Amino acid sequence: MATDRLIFQPLQRIQENAHVKSFEEYKTLHTESVQEPSKFWGKIAKQFYWKKEPSAEKFLQYNFDVKEGSISIKWMEDGVTNVCYNMLDRNVKNGLGDKIAFYWEGNDPEDCGKITYKQLLEKVCKFSNVLKSLGVKKGDTVAIYMPMIIELTVAMLACARIGAVHSIVFGGFSSTSLAERLMDGNCHVVITADGVWRGTKLLNLKAIVDGALQICEKTNHKIEKCVVVRHLSPDMEKIVADEAGDSSNNSDDDPIAKRPCRTLELKWRKGRDVWWHELMKNAAPTCEPEWLEAETPLFMLYTSGSTGKPKGVLHTQAGYMLYAATTFKYVFDYHAEDIYWCTADVGWITGHSYVCYGPLANGATSIIFEGVPLYPDPGRFWAIVEKYQVSKFYTAPTAIRTLMKYGDDYVKKYDTTSLKVLGTVGEPINPEAWLWYYNVIGNGQAAISDTFWQTETGGHVLTPLPGAIPLKPGSATFPFFGIMPELLTEDGQIITEANVEGYLVFKQPWPGIMRTVFGNHERFETTYFKKFPGYYCTGDGAKRDEDGYIWVTGRIDDMLNVSGHLLSTAEIESSLIEHPNIAEAAVVARPHDVKGECSYCFVTLCEGAEFNEELTKELIKLVRQKIGPFAQPEFIQEAPGLPKTRSGKIMRRVLRKIAVNDRNLGDVSTMADESVVETLFSLRPKGA
Ligand code: WTA
Repeated sequence: MATDRLIFQPLQRIQENAHVKSFEEYKTLHTESVQEPSKFWGKIAKQFYWKKEPSAEKFLQYNFDVKEGSISIKWMEDGVTNVCYNMLDRNVKNGLGDKIAFYWEGNDPEDCGKITYKQLLEKVCKFSNVLKSLGVKKGDTVAIYMPMIIELTVAMLACARIGAVHSIVFGGFSSTSLAERLMDGNCHVVITADGVWRGTKLLNLKAIVDGALQICEKTNHKIEKCVVVRHLSPDMEKIVADEAGDSSNNSDDDPIAKRPCRTLELKWRKGRDVWWHELMKNAAPTCEPEWLEAETPLFMLYTSGSTGKPKGVLHTQAGYMLYAATTFKYVFDYHAEDIYWCTADVGWITGHSYVCYGPLANGATSIIFEGVPLYPDPGRFWAIVEKYQVSKFYTAPTAIRTLMKYGDDYVKKYDTTSLKVLGTVGEPINPEAWLWYYNVIGNGQAAISDTFWQTETGGHVLTPLPGAIPLKPGSATFPFFGIMPELLTEDGQIITEANVEGYLVFKQPWPGIMRTVFGNHERFETTYFKKFPGYYCTGDGAKRDEDGYIWVTGRIDDMLNVSGHLLSTAEIESSLIEHPNIAEAAVVARPHDVKGECSYCFVTLCEGAEFNEELTKELIKLVRQKIGPFAQPEFIQEAPGLPKTRSGKIMRRVLRKIAVNDRNLGDVSTMADESVVETLFSLRPKGA
């Protein structure tokens, strides 16, 4: 049977206890959420603490139509609250003080820790005071470039507590990318760690930050303070004491002493660089939260833009909090006894909403994992599931496909029967991987939540609910509460027929939608609202089947999705043409078995330059340096000429065909010089 015909009914053991128990119940709630959003979200808002409750009149005000004026979205505008208070103090007051907020699982399986809500609150208060002592005020932006350690969430929540806006940059970005984000976000304080092990690789994070700060300095952008968590570096004081024979100071109880740091070299700039633990030593353990109006910025997070320059997606306080909390509760069907684990890095939106804010808002216990899926072996995920008896698990299709390649034995070694909900995010999941996830990881006893969403949406927008929605492998199924999807043709007509692909758009705002692009509201309007007035445009294509299930087919714009990381082809192209031998570059997405997609680059050389292995290596290095290792091109081929229209536009559609060696080029009548195509086919690299 074709996999698109498979249907999996909700499992009884999940349905019995679920927040939403049937499709009809889902439908009723969804209808209320879109028809009476203020009433629906108003009830949810009551679960949170407000210094001043939002009024019914001002609960939702918006303009979604560029023809009517500037785009503006305001939820609960006159409400006053604090997100950090709601994540921590509220839970402690409700009796969860001694509940574990996070288990921390290090890269090394022996290395682990945990922290309760009460302890987390104290740490956050201390760090809030530290930030204040460094001169950080409400409205300032603070950059965070950290590994997956508990201090990362402490830093985020401390920013939220004092009303500073955090801007987290994923630890895989290069110095250049980090510098660009520090300057664009106007950050003057950056928080990092000395280094981190990811599998067998040692990353010197501080050195990458140093590189970024050097770039900032050259452009006269001053970073006042760089706070460094001591995660790998030995404690010099203790070492000195040990050498003097002071056994009371020996480092047996110091977990850091056990982490290998052979090659970590730290440069230190006096006055600018400060150790986290030194600052924390004398910080006061309480800190009154800054009470903030609901539409005050909470954080920004950069996402690739199709023009190449990343966009600082801005989220605000209360709407984001409500949405992260509610999606977490319903999509993972969260219950108090759950142990929840999301494998995403906090440097991406998934980590923001579903490692930090969503779980904490629900008083959940979750796991922060520092390592990688294949270290020390491909059974690591399942070892962790067994160790903590994880009941709700959330990862990416690329991880599932990678692990699938190693076979079932690595899974069978461990007991994964605690699992009840298995989430996936980041890219379309192919039915084969879906079925492996369902049958092998979930033993056919866990529901799958294929969650479609974006940095911009703040939380899940298309997703099944575990107890309510029958599943079809590969479909993100139906809209979450508050979401009104439509599919549009190129010229904006609503598609009503089944199985016709169109642009996926949303008709009205939900609380978690982004409010603007940091410092560039016009770009916000142009990117998301201009093409189809009255709608938020995702940039993804999708179709609806006969049963109303939505199937997301992938990006329509010039973006590619490598292992769930969104990259713009323009961003890679502009890195490539920085090479002195490259005159022009065009990059397209090509399907990849494990990564979902990979980049295929066509490069036109400057007069007299030669295409060879060395050049290829240099180009790869360049992209790694400019963007980051995860953006490394998969294929690079020489292109003496590129297929262009008569008006000079590169025909990427044709390049995508060449990349997969498909000669069905479709209509090429607008091409200026057809002869380039044959040459490009003949120059395809070996193995491509
Ligand atoms: C893609 C990640 C299909 C999509 C949360 C989207 C998906 C982009 C899915 C956003 C899914 C994410 N099925 N495609 N379940 N989830 N995508 O901003 O192309 O890093 O536009 O946010 O990932 O990536 P972003």
